[in-house]
Amino acid sequence: MKEVTFRGLTFEPYITREEIDKQIQRLADEIRCDCQESGDDAPIFICVLTGAFMFATDLFRACEIPKSEIAFIRFKSYEGTSSTGVINEVMGLTQDIAGRSVYIIEDIVDTGMTAKQLREKLAKENPKSVKMVSLLFKPDSLIVGTKPEFVGFEIPSKFILGYGLDIDEQARYLNDIYVLKKDDK
Ligand code: IMP
Ligand code: MG
Repeated sequence: MKEVTFRGLTFEPYITREEIDKQIQRLADEIRCDCQESGDDAPIFICVLTGAFMFATDLFRACEIPKSEIAFIRFKSYEGTSSTGVINEVMGLTQDIAGRSVYIIEDIVDTGMTAKQLREKLAKENPKSVKMVSLLFKPDSLIVGTKPEFVGFEIPSKFILGYGLDIDEQARYLNDIYVLKKDDK
């Protein structure tokens, strides 16, 4: 894996696709157990676009829950390498989630603002439960809300991209995850 450059910034290899796949298998096992324990065989996964699209695809496949469903919602809060603090819902949910077990699929929880807003919004629709699965979690950046129930990797508060995560909509296609080089910011 080589360094990559986007928007004039240099990023170095951080998490390989192999490590990502390993954590996805672990998360899938945990979610399957969680469904069994709560006696729920038809959970609904809600993928938060755009960043979580790759992770959601791989996780949904790995879970192999016959009656599971997937839905999509879209939020936007980031510009460049930092959060704008203002979260806009760009695309809403059309499915009825009343009485259902919901697993929100996020790429990353940073300040926690998107997660908090999403949990509050979904709670109003009377689901049986709302839990969050996030591939990445930056504990030191968390300002509001709580840690996701299921976390792939806990990472320091550094800007990363690849495997769905972007910098101004670029770099999502990268197979692995890269981190901003220290001397670039
Ligand atoms: P939060 O509301 O601050 O927790 O931010 C959540 C959203 O910001 C995530 O779903 C990502 O889309 C984006 N984000 C947070 N940290 C990063 C990062 O390091 N790289 C790329 N996007 C990020
Ligand atoms: Mg996101």
